[in-house]
Parts: sequence; structure tokens; C-alpha cells
Amino acid sequence: MPRFLFLSSSARSGGNAEFLARAAAGALSPSAPQRWLALNDLSLPRFEDRRHSGRPYEAPLGEEKELLEATLDADHLVFVAPVYWYALPASAKLYIDYWSAWLRVPGYDFKPRMAGKALSAVTIISSEDETEAEPLIGCLRLTANYMSMDWRGALIGRGNRPGDVEKDARAMGAAKRFFSAAA
Ligand SMILES: Cc1cc2nc3c(=O)[nH]c(=O)nc-3n(C[C@H](O)[C@H](O)[C@H](O)COP(=O)(O)O)c2cc1C
Repeated sequence: MPRFLFLSSSARSGGNAEFLARAAAGALSPSAPQRWLALNDLSLPRFEDRRHSGRPYEAPLGEEKELLEATLDADHLVFVAPVYWYALPASAKLYIDYWSAWLRVPGYDFKPRMAGKALSAVTIISSEDETEAEPLIGCLRLTANYMSMDWRGALIGRGNRPGDVEKDARAMGAAKRFFSAAA
């Protein structure tokens, strides 16, 4: 059974993205392990680009280490990420920026171990125009491609205030089937 890691990046708890993702996760086989992490609850320092500085990235400690190991332990990563200004929320973007460091930390073999994992997104827009989610979805699709991961697509719901997505019958129906090929 694939191990799922749900990475929530809403800047509030109890929002629409998590509601829709929990509906999708509820259709998974009970034997498929699920882990949920709220990226905003982790205290990752700002990302530092050391690539050309001669200062190597050190082995992560604390919550960064926990996040790296949770990432490597998963078979299927799910970004639970509302559209913020057409793009990913900052906590999700910061998390992906850290991949650039983890690619270079000795001993983890990050890139070969990420290859072949599944990546998908559960997102929310308040706009009627779903094309506004394209930058967010394109970022994740291209990242999956760069990392030789298997892009499984995005589940898009509509909402603005907490609870709104529950009334989006199309998205709530699609949630039940979203992971059907995955577990
Ligand atoms: C900083 C910020 C930027 C947003 N940008 C957009 C946007 O570009 N397009 C859109 O349709 N909705 C946008 N929204 C609305 C959110 O996507 C919507 O309220 C969503 O329900 C928030 O997710 P949550 O309920 O999981 O917290 C934005 C909300 C915030 C707080």
C-alpha cells in the first residue's frame, strides 16, 4: 500500500483545502498509511542558497530533518494548497525550495529516492476562472517532472470562506475518486 504524505499549506486551519483533501483521503483504503503535516506549524528558517558559496549544506536537524525524512518515507506526496495570488502559499514554496538543499545534503540520495514517487495537489480557488490555478499546478507538475516523479494531477475545489467547498458538489464528488487509481 502506498504511504501518503499530506502537506497542508493554508495559512489558517480548518479551511477549504484541508476539508477537500480530507474528503479525498477518506476514500483511501484504510490500510494505506496517511501522514498529515501542516507546513505553517513547522519553524523552517528562511531558505539559504549556498550552491555556489563553497559552504555545503549541513545535515538537517530538528523539524527540517523530520520533514525531510517524512518526505523520503512517503510514496505519494499531496500538496494541500489553496491558490494564493495564482500560486502556491509561501509555506509550500518554502518547502519545495528546501528540496534544492536536500538534493545536496550528503548521505540522503534525495534525487534518486524521490524519483518514481507520486505527486498530486488538492487546491481551492475563489474565482470562477479555474485557469487562475494554472501557475500553482504548473509549478508542481514541472517540479515533478524535474524530480522524475509521477505527476497525478490536481483536484480543484471552489471556495472562499471556510466550509464553502462543501457546497461544491462537483469537487466533493471528484474527491471520492481522486485517489482511486492510487491505493
Ligand atoms: C493571500 C491570499 C491570496 C489569494 N489569492 C487568490 C487567487 O489568486 N485566486 C483565487 O481564486 N483565490 C485567492 N484567494 C482565496 C483563497 O484561495 C480561498 O479563500 C481559499 O478558501 C483559502 O484556502 P483555505 O480555505 O484552505 O484556507 C486568496 C486568499 C489569500 C488569503
